[in-house]
Parts: sequence; structure tokens; C-alpha cells
Amino acid sequence: MAVHDTTDTTDTTGTTRRGDRTAEPVLGSAAPRREGPAKLTGTARYAAEHTPPDCAYGWPVAAAVAHGSVTGIDDSDAMAVPGALAVLTHENAPRLGEPDDPTLLLLQSPRVPHRGWYVALAVGETPEAAREMARALHVSYDEEPHDVLVHPDHPKLYHPEQANGGYPGACERGDFDAEYDAAPHRFDLTYTLGPLHNHPMEPHAATAVWEGGHLIAYDSSQGATVVCQTLATMFGLDPHQVTVVAEHVGGGFGSKGTPRPPVVLAAMGAKHTGRAVKVALPRRELPFVVGHRAPTVQRLRIGARDDGTLAALGHDVTTHTSTVREFVEQAAVPSRVMYGSDGSRTGHGVVALDVPTPSWMRAPGEAPGMYALECAMDEVATALGIDPIELRLRNIPDREPDSGRPFSSHHLADCLREGARRFGWERRDPRPGARRDGDLLLGTGVAASTYPAYVAPSTASVQALGDGSRPAYHVRINATDIGTGARTVLAQVAADELGVPLEAVRIDVGSSDLPAAPLAGGSSGTASWGWAVHKACRELRESDGTLVTVDTTSDVQGQEEYARHAFGAVFAEVSVDTVTGEVRVRRLLGVFAAGRILNARTARSQFIGGMTMGLGMALTEHSSLDTRLGGFVEKDLAGYHVPAHADVPDIDAHWIEEHDPYLNPVGGKGIGEIGIVGTPAAIANAVHHATGRRYRELPLTPDRVG
Ligand code: MOS
Repeated sequence: MAVHDTTDTTDTTGTTRRGDRTAEPVLGSAAPRREGPAKLTGTARYAAEHTPPDCAYGWPVAAAVAHGSVTGIDDSDAMAVPGALAVLTHENAPRLGEPDDPTLLLLQSPRVPHRGWYVALAVGETPEAAREMARALHVSYDEEPHDVLVHPDHPKLYHPEQANGGYPGACERGDFDAEYDAAPHRFDLTYTLGPLHNHPMEPHAATAVWEGGHLIAYDSSQGATVVCQTLATMFGLDPHQVTVVAEHVGGGFGSKGTPRPPVVLAAMGAKHTGRAVKVALPRRELPFVVGHRAPTVQRLRIGARDDGTLAALGHDVTTHTSTVREFVEQAAVPSRVMYGSDGSRTGHGVVALDVPTPSWMRAPGEAPGMYALECAMDEVATALGIDPIELRLRNIPDREPDSGRPFSSHHLADCLREGARRFGWERRDPRPGARRDGDLLLGTGVAASTYPAYVAPSTASVQALGDGSRPAYHVRINATDIGTGARTVLAQVAADELGVPLEAVRIDVGSSDLPAAPLAGGSSGTASWGWAVHKACRELRESDGTLVTVDTTSDVQGQEEYARHAFGAVFAEVSVDTVTGEVRVRRLLGVFAAGRILNARTARSQFIGGMTMGLGMALTEHSSLDTRLGGFVEKDLAGYHVPAHADVPDIDAHWIEEHDPYLNPVGGKGIGEIGIVGTPAAIANAVHHATGRRYRELPLTPDRVG
């Protein structure tokens, strides 16, 4: 096993590549993003920047009550605005076919399930006209009482059969109660997290135009194939009659993983008016209509022996969903993976409230769940006088605890040890509150990370274009590059397999007219698309033809035998101001084992981006539901604080070269989400080390810590 230093710019993988066909290994190298110049010079077009001829503008109208129904809409003032074209409501909007996701059934009924739910769409000649129309629209409501606060004793709490991702809602292994009761050291700890918002750099937007019976939509999405299929279902079309383009996307963090209101509203508005229609959401509406990370109350019960090994591990999650759709943040799931114990009980309880529908946000399940589990492990370590790294090493299981399956590869111990070496952990004085620098208390903390290695079927095609003297290939796949560098990495996969320089590969991604592919989500994109690209290139190489199209549906089956997870360790050093309560992160280090790293540059960006988001979760990001008005209070980036540059230290991300033969032909486990996972607990544990106090609720803002 070797450790890759990210200051290197060349590949150092020890694997045998087809060096006879390429001088430099192209896979693993730090190739720059292909679309970088287009983004830098402003020629890259995002969804709201496509303006078809004669384009009109839609402005959605959000419900002004938190629960009830629309009783009347008076659009006379709205239609008197100069440039007014139409007002769509549940009374006149196109009827829609039923999508999988009921949050998309817009303007189909007068029901208002939560504040911010769209009740109308104003369409005007300009964005200003549409906005003015929306303001001039008179909507009356029949208001009903609302309930927006979740807590474990809520009378409507129920225990769902499944949590998000298809995981069982509850799992029991051994006799948790007996093991817990008999354990010499018992811990019963509750951690609380509020809602969190994805807030990608590019807010959600879509432009739609009907050309005859063909619907074209430019959408800000993590996966245009599903958007295409969904629009086809909702508008009664064959998928071949729909084209969804998502060529450049300014992030999503899960909030664009499923189709969202703008694309549906734009298509409805275009159908209703016969014009191209653009709908670009103001950022302050995002919290209400594009999902959020649901709040969680997590009770951890740990029964430990004198040597720190776990006899019992219990993880009970209480969370909320909306009345529109059941979505259960699967925060107890990582406790089924991380540590061995004789008895374990993990489960989820949920309450359907009059709140916006929660959805995926970077590392759904793992990010909140590992915050609680890894803080609890730190509390166990402190109470038992065992070093927190040693405590984790003693509890790493031989097999995945709940399933009993062997791990395809497992290098958490290596991440912890390598991180400890780089961080200088052995010099740490374990006593809390012992290091002082003027008014500041200093502390260090560690936490483990994990994220599952998912893979989904994909198609892809590759065509040989060049003549014998100058090889050239064209790869086509509806992958989505949400800023991760996906098109660059897939070109590297193709060049590597074809044995040609990277420049010889042209690649098109980001349109549903390309071969169908799964979304950029669940850290599964590169593995899923890479598998199809690899297969297409291999078949082309082995065939006499010039064009190959493949489907990996049969290849990705049979992945049940092994438990596949990436692991990592995050280390933080913080200062806590004893006067103001301000917590600042001085150092942040992550060491990850995520299979083969395919591009050293873009991988590092994913790791440090995830860790930055974890820093925000620990220290700055805070959202609350207003019990009186029933909506989110922190709507935009003025109220919802994501870390600014000055909040973020020089983050160090490293990885361990992990050769896992049981994954996929490109050998990667996915890296988009694991960076966020361990970071909040590492910071929270460092705050305890600095102050000697446990704060079991995030974020650690001065009002809490002071
Ligand atoms: Mo990620 S939350 O699966 O887009």
C-alpha cells in the first residue's frame, strides 16, 4: 500500500498499465477540466443562459400560507401589467400525468401542503414583467393549522418500513437490550441537527420550448435522462419526443438529483403560451421547493467494555418528512456498517409535517448519522481514557456487522494511522481544556468517514473517427458534469482503454439525446458511467467496426456478495475564543480510501469541497422552521451562512491507494460525498478537546459555545 501525496501532479499508482500503448498513464493523472476555459471565459451556457427566439419568462407564485387550500385567484391586476402574457393556476394549467415524485404535480389542485408551494405561474415578456405580475396576483386561501416541528415524542411519529435509499427502517442484531443492560459502561447520548440547505452556486433554472410535438428543455439537473423520462410521463409524450440538455451545471449537492419545479413549470408555461419560457428561481425560494436535509434527533446508546470494545450499539433517529411524499433521512444506516458489537438496534422514526419535502443532500444518511456516531465514539473514548483512534481500531469489524458480508476492501485503519502521522497526533495531550493561547482554547479531534460504493447501469457509445495515422475517438454518454470534472475523467477512462493520448478523445455529455445514463448522485457517477465508457472502448478495440454502443445492465448485477464502502479519517484543530465563543478551524486534514483515484486534481477538489461543506455543517449552516409562519427562516445566503474563504483553513486531503478487484473496471468507489461525512464530528470533538464541554447540537455558533 502506498500513500498518494496530492502535491504530486503525476500519477503514482503502482498498477501495471498498458504502458506499451501510452507513454504516460492517463488514468490517475491530474488532467485539468476540459470545460475550464469555457467556464472561465463565460462561453459555457447554463440552463438560464439558453434564450430561444421569442423567449418569455415565468415567475412562480409561492403559497402565502403553511397549510390549507387556494379558494380563489384574481389575476386582473396581474394581467394589466405591461408585457403580461398569462397566469397559470390549478384551474387552467395543462393537466399532467402522474410522476414518481408527487412534489412535481404542480398547479393540479388547490391544496397547499406547505408554505412556499407553488400556486401559480406568471408568464410575461420580460423577467421584470413576470415578477411584477406575480406580485399583483391576488390569491385567497382557506387556511388550516400547521405543524412544522419534529420531536421524538410527537404523537404522529411512526416507524417506516424503509428509509431513504431502500434501506430497512429498522434493524436488530443480537439482543441489544440485554447487551446494553449488562455492559459495564453505558452511554445514552442525544444529538440534534436542524434542517440544512443544499444551496448550489447555480440556483435551479430551466428553459423550455416546444418545437412541434417535441419538447426541448435546458435544465439545471444532475441527471437529464430521468428529467426526460419524467417530462415524457407528465406531458404524455414518448421519451424520444423530449430532449433535456444539462451541459453545464453549477453544482447540486443532491438538490438537482431529481427533476425540480422549474423544468415542469417552464414546459407548462411554454405549452400554455406557445412561446419558449424560462423559469429561473430566486435563491430565497430554493429552501421550499428543491429539498433540504431533514432535521434529525439522534439517540445513541453504546454499551462498552473496559477495553473500549462495544457490547451494544443503538442508534435511533427521529426525523421529518412532508405530507406530499415520504422521505426518511437514513441516518442510522452507517451504524450498521462501522463498528462491531454483540447487540445492535438501529431505526428511524418519522413525522409527516406541513413542511417542504426533504430530499437528498450531500451524503444523505451518512453525514448526519456519522456526526452522531463519531461524536458518541469520542465520548466513549474520553470516558474510558482510551485514545479515540485506538478506540476505533479496536472496534473495526472483520465483516459488515449487520449483513455479515465480507468487505470488498477496508482501509479505515490505514486512513486513521496515516492521518495521525500527518497530523502529528502522537504529540497530542489528551486532557481537555489544557491548551491555551491567550483568550483562545485549542483542541484537536478526529472522526471516521464512510460512504457506500454505489453503481448503476449505464449505456455509452464510442466511435472511431480518425485515420490510421491520427487516431481520434468520439465518446457519447448522458453523464452530467456538475462541476466535478466528470467529462474529463471519462475522457481519461476512454483514452486509457483505447491506448491513445487524452487529446484524441472527444466526449459529449449532458443531453438526453445521448446514450442514457444515471444521474450524478450517490457518488456513483464515475463508477457507473466509467464502466460503460470502459466497456464501449474495450469492445471497439476488440471489434472490426467503427461504432460501438453498450449497456452495462447485466454487468452491474451480482454486486451483493461484498459490502462495498469507502472509508476515511478526518482530523481537525480548532481554537475556541473564551470571550466570544467563536470557533475557528485552524487545520483540517482528511485521508481517504476510496478505491482507485482517477484524476488527482479533480479528486482533491471533491475531497476538500466535501470537507468545506462539513465545516459549514459544524460551524455556520443553520436553518430553522418558523412555528408561527410555518416556513424556513434562513432563506438565502445572507441568513444561511456557508463558509466563506476566511472561515476555511488550508485543507489537506490525501488518499491511500486502494486496489479493490470487486468494484468495477475503473476501480473507483466514488469520492463526491465522503469528504463531508467525518468533518462535523472531527470539529465537534476538537471543540470538546479545547473546552472540555460537549455540545450535542450543531452548528457550534458563538451563541451556543460562548
Ligand atoms: Mo448526492 S446527495 O447523491 O447528489
